[in-house]
Amino acid sequence: MEEMSVSPGAPASAERGASPPSSGPRDLRDWIGRVEAIGQLKRITEEVGRDEEMGAITYLAHQTIGAPALLFERVKGSPRGFRSLWNPLGSSVDRFALAIGEPAGLSVVELIRACRTKFANPIPPVVVEGEGSPVNENHLRDDKVDIRDFPAARHWPRDGGEYIGTCDAIITRDPDGGWLNVGCYRQMVQGKREVGLYLSPGKDARLHIERYWSRNEPCEVVCCWGIDPALFIAASQTFPKTVSELDFVGGMLGRPVELVKGEATSLLYPARAEIAVEGVIPPNSQKLEGPFGEFTGYYGRPEDYAFLVQVRAVHYRDNPILTHALMADYPANECALLYSVARSARVWSDLDRVGVPGIKGVYAHPAAAGGFAMTIVSLEQRYAGHAPQALALAGQVPGGAYFSKWIIAVDDDVDPSNINQVLWAMSTRCNPAEDIDILRQTWSTWLDPTQNPPEERPYGSKALINACMEHRYLKQFSRRTRLRRSVYESVAARWTELGFDGAPPKPWALDD
Ligand SMILES: Cc1cc2nc3c(=O)[nH]c(=O)nc-3n(C[C@H](O)[C@H](O)[C@H](O)COP(=O)(O)O)c2cc1C
Repeated sequence: MEEMSVSPGAPASAERGASPPSSGPRDLRDWIGRVEAIGQLKRITEEVGRDEEMGAITYLAHQTIGAPALLFERVKGSPRGFRSLWNPLGSSVDRFALAIGEPAGLSVVELIRACRTKFANPIPPVVVEGEGSPVNENHLRDDKVDIRDFPAARHWPRDGGEYIGTCDAIITRDPDGGWLNVGCYRQMVQGKREVGLYLSPGKDARLHIERYWSRNEPCEVVCCWGIDPALFIAASQTFPKTVSELDFVGGMLGRPVELVKGEATSLLYPARAEIAVEGVIPPNSQKLEGPFGEFTGYYGRPEDYAFLVQVRAVHYRDNPILTHALMADYPANECALLYSVARSARVWSDLDRVGVPGIKGVYAHPAAAGGFAMTIVSLEQRYAGHAPQALALAGQVPGGAYFSKWIIAVDDDVDPSNINQVLWAMSTRCNPAEDIDILRQTWSTWLDPTQNPPEERPYGSKALINACMEHRYLKQFSRRTRLRRSVYESVAARWTELGFDGAPPKPWALDD
């Protein structure tokens, strides 16, 4: 094994050097085994169609929070053995926990804390021998390539085509710094050897392509279409632009990601991916793409030009599994729980990095446009202006700036993951005339349906809502009702004796 460096520097953090992270699954198949063992995988053995049918089944099956991931084992139009996994994480805290080597049974806030610790302990990838690696069990090269064999699908009735990359990881190399970026970006099938790549303004791969093109050079790309959830989680988060997401996958798994050298490009790809595709995007290579039923629950922008990848080689495992992420209203949206955990952890890590003290918790609510739109920060107010400072930063740090519209600060006696508590704080501690600020012309996307006419996009705005007790009158602020700790403990000890089932609820805050 050869140690490799794909990022110039890892982030400093108070949590660096915390206890060694537990070990996550080796690959997608290992994770599927762990998930099946806790009853959270449903295998569908009946043959299903690519045209809307898998999308419809997933949408309906995922109306229940915590519904199992769906593994379609026979898909029309694909060779026998080619499978398709939909909404791997879904709305299940347990499946996310297993993806990063944590046990099932954690609360969402405990999982966010674990994720934050792992983000603070990145581990760079290693390069391993390509021959004999699982991803290299099969190859298609040059004119033998036909990506249409893989079970791509039209998710929604008005999608512009079949999507092959939704739960994916796209690898590009920063043309100046040399590190490898990994992003999750949608990909529509455009032909036997051609696939679209939709990139919102400001996304790293887009910046890479623009820089290569400005030098009249093609941009090399690896598209991983069947991936383990830890890679998917890292690919979906905004990490600093000067660091490779692969380091954070290693941090989450507790071991380095194994990469193999590409044969058709100078890039590397994961040795245990299900499907890895090498290609190039020559200067000005674009084609009409979309629309696509998006994370907002709307078809984002109408059909428009998107980057076009020319595929040179395809590498895949025996009986490959293509991973799909359905975009929809919650809870059927694959982004939702993913963002409520990983984005919360990212925002929290960023607040740590800039040194905002007293943060008790961060939570991106999953029902707010796939977890993108609302960030709630719980903090212990320590000085004048502390809550407004946390609000402005939580709305603008790299991990939380994109799309977010509602940033809410609550005191440390409020559980940010409990929307009832948050609404209570907004209703009793926020004086809208005084406590709401607006940030304008912020980082948004062509997919935001509220920006009209569509040419107005991608600029957005954010409301910063201070739902903390007024700092000036902290000492005089009306005292809230909460249970005396000693009384809570005695009632909790008698819970079963009193005739109640299960464990007693644990209030976030008690009266000491
Ligand atoms: C399932 C899923 C699909 C996504 N699709 C896209 C997409 O098509 N285009 C895009 O720009 N961002 C998309 N995103 C958001 C990006 O993955 C995210 O912003 C990430 O930070 C991008 O990586 P980067 O920061 O390295 O650019 C998607 C996220 C998820 C979870």
